[in-house]
Amino acid sequence: MEYKNLGNSDLKVSAIGLGAWQAGAKGWGKISDNDVKNALLTSIELGINFIDTAEVYGDGHSEKLIGEVVKDFRDEIVIATKVSGAHLRPDYLERALEGSLKRLNTNYVDLYQIHWPDIYTPLRDTVKTIEKLANNGKIRYIGLSNFSICQIEEVRSYLSTMDIVSNQVRYNIVQREIEDEMLPYLTKENIGVIAYSPLAQGLLTSKYDHVNFDTSDVRKSNRLFSEDNIHSITPLLNVLREISYETGHSVVQIALNWLIAHEKVIPIPGAKNRDQATINLQSAGWRLNDAQMKRIEDSFQEIKSKVDTF
Ligand SMILES: NC(=O)c1ccc[n+]([C@@H]2O[C@H](COP(=O)([O-])OP(=O)(O)OC[C@H]3O[C@@H](n4cnc5c(N)ncnc54)[C@H](OP(=O)(O)O)[C@@H]3O)[C@@H](O)[C@H]2O)c1
Repeated sequence: MEYKNLGNSDLKVSAIGLGAWQAGAKGWGKISDNDVKNALLTSIELGINFIDTAEVYGDGHSEKLIGEVVKDFRDEIVIATKVSGAHLRPDYLERALEGSLKRLNTNYVDLYQIHWPDIYTPLRDTVKTIEKLANNGKIRYIGLSNFSICQIEEVRSYLSTMDIVSNQVRYNIVQREIEDEMLPYLTKENIGVIAYSPLAQGLLTSKYDHVNFDTSDVRKSNRLFSEDNIHSITPLLNVLREISYETGHSVVQIALNWLIAHEKVIPIPGAKNRDQATINLQSAGWRLNDAQMKRIEDSFQEIKSKVDTF
């Protein structure tokens, strides 16, 4: 496994992490605890040390499963969890962290992220509380998620003893809105980019030519999966298929490797079972060559105006 420093910190994380929204077993179809535990254990056995979860995933169920799986080797794993944007008032936040620690079966979180900003809570109060909890040893590093550059700057202005190490944002070969301003800013500031939905919630696996998600599936209302979009993105998927044939790496691995090629970016694909986890973790440790990267880029430029990425 290949490892990278997260942002400018000394935290060494695997070049690919494991997203654990699926471990919450809500909104992603039928998922069993056993399958998720196998996905976690296999990933860890094969070198993944970075797991992303959140208090909201399955109302705490994801954190609880992770706590059960890692209890015997807790210190070898970098656990990133998130406080919900609805819990940013200082008293709520302290309670939210205690809840996460209890479910995760630990007395510290490696990376505590604010899941999304909340306009109703003064950011200064939230940041001061997180920094206090970090100084008390309950949080090792502070991260953000879904924050704009202005909001990141505001957070950083309130921190006095530490800085943020990451912003978690949506990023994949077709959803690239962070490239205009966010990615250059994070790169310049040496802040880690944790890429969520790195497979565009499954679309970049190339296994979907039409979809019929259950009403409870989070992708039911995702316009990315509309028939028009699937049609528009097909030429890009065909390029990924060609490169897959040439390299012997699967389409999934090519989509994830494209992200890993960006120095500061750590993708965190969600996996529902051992097979998916095993495929995903093999995206690290090798690189697409310049010509392959250029073919992907050229194909994206051709389709980008036709794809509704929101
Ligand atoms: N901070 C935030 O606001 C935020 C938002 C979203 C996600 N996240 C985090 O990012 C993680 C990943 O993002 P995501 O879950 O939105 O999307 P994703 O990782 O792009 O897609 C995950 C889905 O793709 C399919 N898949 C994964 N690996 C596969 C493989 N090897 N072969 C075939 N299919 C595969 C699975 O669904 P099917 O098998 O059903 O197709 C899986 O549920 C989450 O788990 C969560 O930790 C954070």
